[in-house]
Amino acid sequence: MSDRAPPVTIDTARRALAARFAGAGLDSPELDARLLVGAALSLDLTGLVSHGQRQLTADEAARIERLAQRRLGGEPVARILGAKEFWGLPLRLSAETLVPRPDTETVVELALEALGSDRRNRRLCIADLGTGSGAILLALLSELPNAIGIGTDLSLDALLTARDNAVRLGLADRADFVACSYASALSGWFDLIVSNPPYIRAGDIAGLAIEVRAHDPLRALDGGVDGLDAYRALIPQAAGLLRPGGALVVEVGQGQSGDVEGLMTKAGLQVDFPATRADLAGIPRAVIGRKKP
Ligand SMILES: C[S@@+](CC[C@H](N)C(=O)[O-])C[C@H]1O[C@@H](n2cnc3c(N)ncnc32)[C@H](O)[C@@H]1O
Repeated sequence: MSDRAPPVTIDTARRALAARFAGAGLDSPELDARLLVGAALSLDLTGLVSHGQRQLTADEAARIERLAQRRLGGEPVARILGAKEFWGLPLRLSAETLVPRPDTETVVELALEALGSDRRNRRLCIADLGTGSGAILLALLSELPNAIGIGTDLSLDALLTARDNAVRLGLADRADFVACSYASALSGWFDLIVSNPPYIRAGDIAGLAIEVRAHDPLRALDGGVDGLDAYRALIPQAAGLLRPGGALVVEVGQGQSGDVEGLMTKAGLQVDFPATRADLAGIPRAVIGRKKP
């Protein structure tokens, strides 16, 4: 009788990996296993299904195992792949960009709503403060064919990544990127300013999941002692750059919407009712303030 291990097919490897991920308590074991096996073999979902019964080579099995070890060590799938989908757009990531979160799509939704139903025909000027991978700005430009936009960040690595994403998505002719603190280098008038700034209280960062604390850049997370430092800086700047009737839409952390509404009011913005939009978990996630018309 042969003592060689039985041949492993792509399907068996994927199922075994999902079971290991489930056993390790990962949130989405099936999806993670599918994405990593697909990445190791350069196969999309259709390829994984159609090649499911093909046997793995030793090299392929080793490639899958290397990615599995990274995931089991707490590295998010998006970091391993270097890419994440946001608002249906494939975005590249780099060391200094946050992995864009589905919750942030709430900011895009509220911003689009604030621009009104004729928004696709309007010539709009948009700023995204702390643009990271460019996620919010590029999502908005993809929906607004007559808009132009500028993204700012302190990280040059993030700005280069955002620019690369704009090029890949065919939006580069309407998107600029500049290194500065929030809106400090901007002038002129904006119809819409958006931001998902760092808003985690400094003391809470050590208690975040390893996927976040060890793999998202600290600069993208750290909101100072009470988590509100970025809002204190950017809300007065934005209030001075909005056209009459223009809107500022920011993402907030859990429990921060009241404080952020207060900072908007103090900066002279009108806080509409309702001023917030909840994410899928029902948590107020985006806050809007408007410059008086
Ligand atoms: C929470 S991340 C958001 C990234 C991206 N907008 C998104 O939603 O995925 C915050 C971003 O703000 C940037 N940032 C931090 N401090 C900044 C500052 N003073 N001025 C401009 N950007 C800043 C970080 O580098 C990071 O890219």
